[in-house]
Amino acid sequence: AAPYDTILVERRGRVGLVTLNRPKALNALNRRVMHEVTHAAAAFDADPEVGCLVITGSERAFAAGADIKEMAEADAIAMYMEDGFGGWMALTRVRKPIVAAVSGFALGGGCELAMMCDMIIASDTAKFGQPEIKLGIIPGIGGSQRLIRAVGKAKATDLCLTGRMMDAQEAERSGLVARVVPAGDFMAEAMKTAEAIAAMSLPALMALKECLGRADEASLAEGLLFERRAIQALFATADRREGMAAFVEKRAPNFTHR
Ligand code: CAA
Repeated sequence: AAPYDTILVERRGRVGLVTLNRPKALNALNRRVMHEVTHAAAAFDADPEVGCLVITGSERAFAAGADIKEMAEADAIAMYMEDGFGGWMALTRVRKPIVAAVSGFALGGGCELAMMCDMIIASDTAKFGQPEIKLGIIPGIGGSQRLIRAVGKAKATDLCLTGRMMDAQEAERSGLVARVVPAGDFMAEAMKTAEAIAAMSLPALMALKECLGRADEASLAEGLLFERRAIQALFATADRREGMAAFVEKRAPNFTHR
């Protein structure tokens, strides 16, 4: 692995695990974290042995947002020239599924990072919010756009305008979070889920991620056409032959991810 300062990186079987590791700052997202997370994620994306990524933090904090101490001295031109938030867009170019395993605070950029992942598994201690307004700014890594798509206009507006936190139950009720599990189990649940995903045919997973992404980006007609083209193309893979043969023969499939 590259020499990382702010994250821990580990491959477990077919799962690539990225752990934010700035405990003293509640995993605040400074420029270095952005570079390291996007670099590590791109490396896992390019690794044929990896089928799914997990991004997590600590039990106390997934990430408490962009690094306020780093931002405190920045001016508008520096923010524009360095594009310290725009670099996170690299994460959205990862083609394999990403599971966010969230415990504790997922605030501001932390909530936005979780929302850039494909699904969120939360501990019952998780707290989500976009508190930027309390600092005299607004979300900057997609919060005003992705939260509204995830939870709808009413709740997204409430959260962004007041900066209040919502707990894991409210986050699950409102559709931000896929599953809430007891605090002690969230990592095990996230890893188990990622392993199950990573065992699927990789070309199918990648095509599926593209299709799910289209639901936000395209009209229904375009999205449906995109999906149909993708399933037609997948009939070329060895894995779909194997998957269907295994079903007929009443055995587990042995995917080769081709
Ligand atoms: N940036 C930098 N440092 C942070 C931080 C952040 N976002 N969040 C927490 N820390 C630091 C604290 O300064 C503190 O450091 P010291 O021990 O050196 O004082 C340490 O982490 C522990 O934090 P607290 O003592 O505050 O812990 P707490 O349990 O009392 O409170 C908290 C936890 C409610 C999460 C509180 O830390 C907090 O409100 N953090 C800021 C949350 C926030 O506003 N996030 C949005 C940032 S802006 C943004 O993200 C913009 C964007 O969209 C890109």
